[in-house]
Amino acid sequence: MDAIDVIITKRDGGELSTEQIRWTIDAYTRGAIAEEQMSSLAMAILLRGMTRREIADWTQAMIDSGERMDWSMLERPTADKHSTGGVGDKITLPLAPLVAACGAYVPQLSGRGLGHTGGTLDKLESIPGWRADLTNAEMLAVIREAGAVVCAAGGGLAPADKKLYALRDVTGTVESIPLIASSIMSKKIAEGTGSLVLDVKVGSGAFMKTTETARELARTMVELGTDAGVRTVALLTAMDRPLGLAVGNALEVAEAVEVLSGGGPADVVELTLRLAREMLEAAGVPGAKDPERALADGSAMDAWRRMIIAQGGDPDAPLPAAPETLEITAGSSGVLATLDAYAVGVAAWRLGAGRARKEDPVSPGAGITLHAKPGDKVEPGRPLMTLHADDPSRFPRAQEALRDAWTIADAPADLLPLVIDRVT
Ligand code: URA
Repeated sequence: MDAIDVIITKRDGGELSTEQIRWTIDAYTRGAIAEEQMSSLAMAILLRGMTRREIADWTQAMIDSGERMDWSMLERPTADKHSTGGVGDKITLPLAPLVAACGAYVPQLSGRGLGHTGGTLDKLESIPGWRADLTNAEMLAVIREAGAVVCAAGGGLAPADKKLYALRDVTGTVESIPLIASSIMSKKIAEGTGSLVLDVKVGSGAFMKTTETARELARTMVELGTDAGVRTVALLTAMDRPLGLAVGNALEVAEAVEVLSGGGPADVVELTLRLAREMLEAAGVPGAKDPERALADGSAMDAWRRMIIAQGGDPDAPLPAAPETLEITAGSSGVLATLDAYAVGVAAWRLGAGRARKEDPVSPGAGITLHAKPGDKVEPGRPLMTLHADDPSRFPRAQEALRDAWTIADAPADLLPLVIDRVT
């Protein structure tokens, strides 16, 4: 077999055989297919698409490129959640300990942010001492201690995806439903969770800009999970505006802690509770505790503290704060009609909350605090948001990103409902 045949088959709209797919993923992982050849194939897949069988084979080949974790020794059902990524999406932080407090085990492998979207590991790393890199034995010890663990995927898990994702990121081939679905699901199936709830974001701040494409991605992933024996459900949720009031690493940890303390913004609380109920149902936890009660009685907060401490973090340490702030005020009075998630995400990224290249550090304190959300009344001169950065030279480019980020009108605009649809 050779890479050129595979590329030409897909370029011309053909269907790749199981054998071709297995050979391609194996050869690429071993370094026997050049990056430029894989880049060309990824572009052909993006433009031509894949059949359901091809996506299933591609996903299986990526799982088989590495190790598969196994949690069958645990006495409680396992549940995980995966978000396709957005702006201000800190839901994993309160959700993992909350679901643990309700009776499931949550073994969650998370990622770092890239571009305008935030990453769960970057957020948690703003907690002094907290460690993302754990061995499998350490993961098990944290689960036994806290009921939940959130950490980085080791190099042995779906290594083909690790390589391919880095390549797609710099070749304009991220936004392909077959490639996104196989990338996410290969990692989640290899992670060994018994059940999975997918939070597929829709809107300007998400990979999927429309409900139709998000639904197709959700359906593809649910089928892949179900066929692999993982009970999988997907929610389509709004990402046309940021989630919550905090965007940026330490700022989002603080907001997550507010939720665990029984407060926090209404949309973050609502989505956390909804996803917790979906996870408990998918996991099939007998006699699961009601998530609302676990937030109110402090048991979710206890699980959070145990999880942070078990991963070397200090839950009582002050979170890093950026030394420079800049307030942005409304220019007129009315209702904040829209607030574009993508623009806010790009601004937070430029302030230092995200990275331009994989190896760049992030600034833990950088980001944006929102003082108004769509639907809120605003007055001229009243603050709309506060920008946080380590260096004031970051402000002008962030302000540039925000130039057309919101509209003020007489009445609220039609926004997406927080939970748009459920796909099973
Ligand atoms: N997240 C992933 O893990 N892979 C993708 O392709 C897109 C988002």
